[in-house]
Amino acid sequence: MNIFIFGGTGDLAGRKLLPALYRHFKANRLSTHTKILSIGSRAIDTNEYRKFVKENLQLYLNAKEFEESICNSFLENILFLQIDFNKPESFQSMSSYARDGKRNIYYLAVSPIFYKPIVDNLSIQKLIFASSSIIVEKPIGKDHLTSVEINQALAEHFNEHQIFRIDHYLGKEAVQNLLALRFGNIIFEKIWSNIAIDHVQITVSETLGLENRGSYYDETGAIKDMLQNHLLQILCLVAMEPPTDINSESIRDEKLKVLRSLRPIEINKNNQQLVIGQYKDGAINAQPKTAYINEDGVNPESLTETFVALKLWIDNWRWSGVPFFLRTGKRMAEKKSEIVVQFKSVPHNIFDSKIMQKDNQLIIRLQPEESIKLKIMIKKPSASGFYLQELPLDLLFEDYYENDHLDAYERLLMDIIENKPSLFMRRDEVEEAWIFIDQLIESINSSETSPSKYNAGSWGPSGSDLLIASHDAKWNNEED
Ligand code: BG6
Repeated sequence: MNIFIFGGTGDLAGRKLLPALYRHFKANRLSTHTKILSIGSRAIDTNEYRKFVKENLQLYLNAKEFEESICNSFLENILFLQIDFNKPESFQSMSSYARDGKRNIYYLAVSPIFYKPIVDNLSIQKLIFASSSIIVEKPIGKDHLTSVEINQALAEHFNEHQIFRIDHYLGKEAVQNLLALRFGNIIFEKIWSNIAIDHVQITVSETLGLENRGSYYDETGAIKDMLQNHLLQILCLVAMEPPTDINSESIRDEKLKVLRSLRPIEINKNNQQLVIGQYKDGAINAQPKTAYINEDGVNPESLTETFVALKLWIDNWRWSGVPFFLRTGKRMAEKKSEIVVQFKSVPHNIFDSKIMQKDNQLIIRLQPEESIKLKIMIKKPSASGFYLQELPLDLLFEDYYENDHLDAYERLLMDIIENKPSLFMRRDEVEEAWIFIDQLIESINSSETSPSKYNAGSWGPSGSDLLIASHDAKWNNEED
């Protein structure tokens, strides 16, 4: 097997792909015949490249994982090829490796502008075979039209089953666990609808800023960088109907139906559904953080949003009348990804009216730690009287699976190697998500909505609290 990494000297390769491949190598999950061929435009040779790989492994693996002798054997399987992505003849150097009968995986860890020239040139040099796979990263396009163009360029040379579109959130164990929680337990699925659920919150907050990606981010913003892919994918897994089986097509069919049921967002004064924000100066853990507009690569007049919160409706039987509140932002108070399922009140309170009855809440934490917490009411022990108290049933995954933590890219790479596509986005899913996002952006532009400022280190603009308060609810911001 050959794994070709286009963009082999880039950040994704150094930070994620090579460490993930090293871990598979160390655990004997890669066959001894696997070659990693890194491709880039820099004039360096394999020895220099191997130095780059070693430095990155030392930087991104934890001290226990890195072992000099294993690293040296791993490096023996790595070669570097200098290729100009725009020149067909430059791809000839790949032909002695990428032969028919071998599994050739082409990982495009490069800017999407190179997707088309790379696949065209692979085709010109006759390097694409029935057993080849192509891997592309989000964002697939900048809008619906450009996503169709990219998908079309790929489809000219590869069948859909050969194309793996990465949304790394789908590689996270906790995200996959949503399927287990929902469809492996009858207790949740029976009440997983407007019968018992009042609303759902999905939060993906980051304390990070732009991490040297200022010019990319300023062109992109939170809606396209995070909402279009990670948040909508989580939403799909929370809201989809039970698939007939765990096969990729069954799961993707159900996710697609959710995307198709999203009610378009209309922004007007009476019906507030969206808040966008941009961070200004502030502090996180007592460390001062500079305003977005002063970050490298950002236009000082920029109106790009670094935060978005919205109230979504899914127009189908199950979710009729249940709002989904989604929010994501950079430079927020805390890094966390979580889903909060807020249940309705009991239909009739049998207790003394002075007793505060709280509604059940299921909190599924995806990161930093992976946990499931169900808040329930119990009777507080007492010699007299009857008092209720809210307590959590708390499941922290690391208590059970201490050493089994897989990085998302480790899981995704193994699924690619084993040709299992369920954790990757199908063409129609990506394009459908863009249809929703295009309409949202058009609505923002036509209503001239501009981002409200929020302090770095806060939970976003105050409008976000008002948005959820309109449903008589609050974001789950407390550290528990
Ligand atoms: C990426 C976004 O897709 O996801 C980044 O482009 C973001 O802006 C990152 O920081 C967040 O991923 P994670 O796994 O750290 O939550």
